[in-house]
Amino acid sequence: MNVIVVENYDEMSLRAAEIVEQQVLKNAKSILGLATGSTPLGLYGKMVEGFKNRGVSYEQIKTVNLDEYQGLNRNHPNSYHSFMYENLFKHINIQMRNTYLPDGQARSVEEECERYEALIERIGPVHLQILGMGTNGHIGFNEPGTPEGSLTHCVELDESTRKNNARFFESPEAVPTHAITMGITSILKSDRILLLASGKKKAPAVKKLMEQQVSEDFPASFLWNHDDVTLIADRDAYQLVE
Ligand code: F6R
Repeated sequence: MNVIVVENYDEMSLRAAEIVEQQVLKNAKSILGLATGSTPLGLYGKMVEGFKNRGVSYEQIKTVNLDEYQGLNRNHPNSYHSFMYENLFKHINIQMRNTYLPDGQARSVEEECERYEALIERIGPVHLQILGMGTNGHIGFNEPGTPEGSLTHCVELDESTRKNNARFFESPEAVPTHAITMGITSILKSDRILLLASGKKKAPAVKKLMEQQVSEDFPASFLWNHDDVTLIADRDAYQLVE
């Protein structure tokens, strides 16, 4: 794992945007794997700046997102469809038909998971996968206990995850209990992975990751089984690593 420690959130976002932009300049038809949450918001802001001010084009790329809440309509303000549209897609020249997220309202969740995994196989491999990490080490919505062999599947969200995400909803009870997520194997299929971590809240998780003990108890640790992972962490997130 290649580790880059930077001063703060803004610098983390800038370094991440440079890597994304290099990828897109190298291959205009890049497949990007995207995440939601607070962590990549700054990165998406910098990508929008790059599009507007430096002529970076996203016209031919395709994107696949890690996950989506189950039961939320795609137009619900807290769906990950809406998150991606509001924070990135509507600001750049991506073609919406080239953006993919799991359908949280699919009639058969099992079929939707199979369909999504087959889609990743068909259009992939993802050239560059962006990841954030939960305080419990989850990546995507792969909570502790998820096996390495997992493909896209339905998960019941951890109480801690629902609590952490409650800030986006009217009340903690409004946070969906289930989600569809790419599995660990789906994520590890990507050519290259960029893991971002910012803030002191993530410091215990970053410390645990850097202990290099690969275990289901801490899903992000499976990233040690991939040979091209870059972690960009800011000082606050990296402060507990000796
Ligand atoms: C989001 C996702 C999650 C988040 C993680 C961290 O698509 O897959 O794994 O990356 O929960 O969330 P933030 O960035 O809000 O701390």
